[in-house]
Amino acid sequence: MTVQEKLGQLQQLTWTGETGPGGGQTAETEDAARAGRLGSVLNIHGAAHTNALQRIAVEDSRLGIPLLFGLDVIHGFWTTFPIPLAQAAAFDPEVSRSDAEVANAETRTNGVRWTFAPMMDVTHEPRWGRIAEGSGEDPYLNAAYAVAKIRAHQGAADGSELAHDDRLAACAKHFVAYGGAEGGRDYNTVDMSEQRLRNHYLPPFKAAIDAGAATVMAAFNTVGGVPAHGNAHTMQAILKDEWDFDGFVVSDYTGVQELIAHGFAEDGADAAALAFTAGMDMEMVSTNITEHGESLVESGALPLDRLDDAVARVLRLKFALGLFETPYCDESAEITEPSPAARAAARAAAARCMVLLKNEASALPLAPDLASVAVVGPFADSTDLHGTWAGPGCRRFPSVSVVEAVREAAPSATVTHAGTDPSQAADAARAADVTVVVVGEDPALSGEAAARADIALPAGQEELIAAVAATGRPYVVVLVNGRPLVLGDWYDAAPAVLEAWHGGIEAGSAVADALFGAVNPGGKLPVTFPRAVGQIPVYYNHESTGRPYDPDEKYTSKYLDLEDGPRLPFGHGLSYTTFTTSEPTPTRESITRDELAAGATVEVTVTVTNTGHRTGDETVQLYVHDVAASIAQPVRKLRGFRRVTLAPGATTTVTFPLGEEDLGFWTNDPAGTFRVERGRFDVYAGTSSTAPAYGTLRVL
Ligand code: GLC
Repeated sequence: MTVQEKLGQLQQLTWTGETGPGGGQTAETEDAARAGRLGSVLNIHGAAHTNALQRIAVEDSRLGIPLLFGLDVIHGFWTTFPIPLAQAAAFDPEVSRSDAEVANAETRTNGVRWTFAPMMDVTHEPRWGRIAEGSGEDPYLNAAYAVAKIRAHQGAADGSELAHDDRLAACAKHFVAYGGAEGGRDYNTVDMSEQRLRNHYLPPFKAAIDAGAATVMAAFNTVGGVPAHGNAHTMQAILKDEWDFDGFVVSDYTGVQELIAHGFAEDGADAAALAFTAGMDMEMVSTNITEHGESLVESGALPLDRLDDAVARVLRLKFALGLFETPYCDESAEITEPSPAARAAARAAAARCMVLLKNEASALPLAPDLASVAVVGPFADSTDLHGTWAGPGCRRFPSVSVVEAVREAAPSATVTHAGTDPSQAADAARAADVTVVVVGEDPALSGEAAARADIALPAGQEELIAAVAATGRPYVVVLVNGRPLVLGDWYDAAPAVLEAWHGGIEAGSAVADALFGAVNPGGKLPVTFPRAVGQIPVYYNHESTGRPYDPDEKYTSKYLDLEDGPRLPFGHGLSYTTFTTSEPTPTRESITRDELAAGATVEVTVTVTNTGHRTGDETVQLYVHDVAASIAQPVRKLRGFRRVTLAPGATTTVTFPLGEEDLGFWTNDPAGTFRVERGRFDVYAGTSSTAPAYGTLRVL
């Protein structure tokens, strides 16, 4: 390979032509492919379309190296599943596996073999629009979902199944700490201690690499003043050296070029040199590596062995994906629309993500023999409940709306609809047995570059709820949103509130399934809901401080003008039935550090019972607290969860192993030191992060 051909493998361009069958092809991309100056293309799909471009690379260029096509398949290709934050609310990574299984077939048959997913950015920032795209505020939950998605996309951790026609290469993103943006403003500064980086933001990525993630995408932000796209500490020292990552790092869009705007690089050549010597392997969209690479190699600014290493990483994945053997996809096998089975899977997933936030006097489920139901609000008839990063499907296959699904779920009822006008909604409520108020956020209000400074329900919606409430008629509220919201006074008055998130192509059907009890909601909040935006950051896995809140003591950590604690805590979620959980019982009172280092664990058992009158799901959550350590530890750390389905009166015992990884923490050592310290650990178990029951364990 010539230096220019090597540099070409490190270049990814975005597709600007039509991306359906028979669409146009952009000359720049074709020319680069023909000249062997192109390694990958993103935002292209369609079997005929990708084959046409692939043919140019394989048959016209000197070496015939196939192109790698990548796309953001974050929660569905044609069949949109619930947004990832909603999937995390299921506290069941199987939901993500189901999503990936459907997406693999649809994506692969459309010529794409690489998805820029899963996103695993832990965040404590509900103002940040991309909170919708990850698995919430907890590292352990993010890690569980990241691993599930990667394994479902890629198969075996050694990459041996990537060539199968139902597999995709995954991409762990965004490396790293993107969710720590100051003020929740996208792309903003991220600055934190090494221990916080390693204890909160890195664990999902380490789990992803251990699960065999084929690629990693760099983050737009700085980490400790050094942009992630040029950060040798994170990309080289941690990711490649400490973790032995042998896949490749792709930039996020023009992230290499943006090193200039960061004030880190002087010009494009400098940006390319800084990025690729820090561990970058492929440049997306901006073209500094192909424009300046040859002179950088000649000057030694880009060492040839670094160039060869990056090229080898890219080619290894192309071989593993079978691109050299089968560069083209079978146009006759192309999936062109959601199948009934895919829709059913999306509907089941959306129902499993629902969180019953409150339900007074069993306002829910609705009686199946209702004579009349009013469905009102700005999203009552919305067919765009896909959410952010919804893939090509959202442009072609509308969501099932709530009102449409209610009509189907209650065929004998008179179902009326009113939109955003409060007086019309009140009129409809007065004439109905019950009113379903569907409020929340337009999908455009979350996602990339969609931070909100005020995270209450958008203008007019609280007034609409109040108008319905003022009629005195029965009503329930359904939220369709992409982030935690500040729930106003309306929440205290509402008889029942169901968190439905942006539920995807079958969102309305899943809402109706939950409203009428075909499904008993069992989800839990993967993020804290703050009382006010001024309270942010507020999250469950916080430090105690030296003066934790005490209502009887002035000089403690609090706000003068706000009740203490969040509106709704991490892990909160109700059911149409009730459950009790026992105190967590460690099977032994102590364990030594040597035993832990040798892989021994302490089992903690928790018994849960369905004390109600209908079958339902409860998610038992296990939290630990190292009560005295050389680095102040979170008051609780999630280290186990299990969603169980129990019939009325049934009981089951859940056992959680606690080992070294659960009881230790990373220190501020930049070289990475993980330790378990002697002393007492409190162990909490229950149905949310506020679980009162606890046991104790000593490490000797
Ligand atoms: C975007 C996103 C990233 C995505 C990429 C390609 O800017 O930050 O998550 O994968 O560009 O679309």
